Amino acid sequence: MPDADAEGTVGDPSCGDCLVMYLKVEDNKISDISYLVFGCCGAIATSSMTSVLAKGKTLDEALKISDDDVVEALDGLPESKIHCSLLGVGALRAAILNYQEKQRIETGASHENSHTG
Ligand code: FES
Repeated sequence: MPDADAEGTVGDPSCGDCLVMYLKVEDNKISDISYLVFGCCGAIATSSMTSVLAKGKTLDEALKISDDDVVEALDGLPESKIHCSLLGVGALRAAILNYQEKQRIETGASHENSHTG
């Protein structure tokens, strides 16, 4: 997503899989979401389901999506693939925190400007 408002990256050192999630945010809601994943079929499935669950939610609602929610929405995963669901949720949370951090910096900068301007 070239014009993303935020992005979050998570890697799993035990298997080498890696996921980047991109967000567009409008009125505090995730208006669009995409991802780039390098990983196993479990990582691809959970990244995809995480994006489906998060789209249209407010940032606070999206932060509450758990790996259990993702596994449940997929109607379960083989035991050996359960840990893959952590990638999607981790990258989503990292992207939301990245967005909130950018907002804080922008708000701080404009606040600072109003004092100096
Ligand atoms: S084996 Fe690494 S995320 Fe699935």
